[in-house]
Amino acid sequence: MTKKIKITDIQKIIGKKKIETGLVLGSGLGKAIPLKKKVEFEYNEIKGFNLPSVTGHSGKLLIGTIHNRMVAVLSGRTHFYENGKADTMRNPIKLLKDLGVKKLVLTNASGSLRNNIPTGSLMVIEDHINFSGLNPLIGENSENRFVNLTVAYDKDINEMILKAGNEQNINIKTGIYAWFSGPSFETPAEIKAIRSLGADVVGMSTVPEVIISRFLKIKVAGISVVTNMAAGLSNETISHEQTKEIAKLSERKLSKIIISLLRKL
Ligand code: HPA
Repeated sequence: MTKKIKITDIQKIIGKKKIETGLVLGSGLGKAIPLKKKVEFEYNEIKGFNLPSVTGHSGKLLIGTIHNRMVAVLSGRTHFYENGKADTMRNPIKLLKDLGVKKLVLTNASGSLRNNIPTGSLMVIEDHINFSGLNPLIGENSENRFVNLTVAYDKDINEMILKAGNEQNINIKTGIYAWFSGPSFETPAEIKAIRSLGADVVGMSTVPEVIISRFLKIKVAGISVVTNMAAGLSNETISHEQTKEIAKLSERKLSKIIISLLRKL
C-alpha cells in the first residue's frame, strides 16, 4: 500500500505561507474558482479523508492563490448518506484548520421551499434546522462538544457575500437551510412540514460541516445554489441529474461571487 499524504507533506510542498481562507465546493460546483500556482491532492491520497462516491464531486484538495492570497479548496465533499458517518468531513475541515484556515465558505445545492427563491437562485444561509437528528460531534468526549450555535453563520462574512452580490449585479437571497440525511429526496409531506417550521431550502449536506467548523472555532458561512423546487412544489421530476445540471448553469454566477468575496475576506 502506498503511504498516505499527511499535513507535513502538504506543508513541505506549499511552503510556510499561511492559508487563511477555505472553501468547500458542492454538487456540480467543483470548478467555481480559478486558482493560480495550484497544487492538487486527491482525497484518496490524503490520510483520514473519505472518497466521495457521488458524481459531480471530484474529491480533490486544491491549494493555490487568488488575488495573491492562498486559498484551500475542498472540491467535492462526502455526505452522511455515503457512509453513515455524520463526521465524514471532520478530517478534511481539521486539515484546513491545521493549515491555518480561519474562515470557511461552504457551498451546496438545495431544493427551494419558497416561490420567491426560484430555481437558479443563490442564497446566503442565515441559520439552519437540523432535521436529521444526527450530529457530527456524537462520540466527541470533550467538554468542547457543547458548541454554541446561536450565531453559527458568521454575520460579517454573510454581509460580504451580499455586498459581493450587489457589486456583481447578482441577486442573492437569504434564508434558512434544513438538513435532511438523504440520499432519497424528501416527500411532499416532509417538505410541507419543514416549510411550516420556517425553512427556506432543503439539502443533504453543510450542516455537519458548520457544526464541525464551529467546534474547531473556524468562522463559517454558506452559499446555497437552488437547483429545483422541493418535492411537491412543482411538476418537475427531482433528480440528481437535474441537481448537477442546474448547479453547473449557476456555477459562473457563484464563481463571480466567490472571487469578489475572496477580495473582502
Ligand atoms: N432536496 C434535498 N437535497 C437537494 C435538493 C432537494 O430537493 N436539491 C438539491 N439538493
